[in-house]
Amino acid sequence: MLTKKFKRCRQACNDCVPVPEKLETYTTIEVSAMKNMYIAVIAGTLAAMSSAMQAQAGGAEIYNAKCMACHASGAAGAPKVGDTAAWAPRIATGMDALVASVTNGKGGMPPKGACADCSADDIAAAVEHMVGNSK
Ligand code: HEC
Repeated sequence: MLTKKFKRCRQACNDCVPVPEKLETYTTIEVSAMKNMYIAVIAGTLAAMSSAMQAQAGGAEIYNAKCMACHASGAAGAPKVGDTAAWAPRIATGMDALVASVTNGKGGMPPKGACADCSADDIAAAVEHMVGNSK
């Protein structure tokens, strides 16, 4: 009788071991609960990482899309990104002053650096990206 049962089990499932039914159920639940916990932790970490990366990429993306036209070539007298000499005196005025210049427009630069749909955060992120690459 017992041998028969065991044989049937081996046929159905290669991993089956001859343990009492209750213990087997318990083990399965434990393992799947742990798996879920790991998945939750990993998912949480990934979400945190990708949102941090998005915040960083945001400034670069806005710069590439909206600001590079002038600030890569120096068009209209714009300080070129990477030109440390041109940026040093501007950086010295502080981030708030730089962001205000962009928001209000300055010289050849139209208000918001011509990015009408940029939020204040977008402008600040783009300025930070430019300043970070110009020191
Ligand atoms: C149409 C060309 C043009 C575009 C587009 C443009 N800029 Fe400018 N930007 C300029 C010019 C010209 C200056 C120099 C202004 C001056 O000092 O007279 C300038 C200056 C700046 C400064 C220095 C401000 C200061 O106080 O010295 C920052 C920061 C800046 N731009 C950021 C940006 C950002 C961010 C964007 C995109 C959202 C952008 N710019 C788009 C032309 C442009």
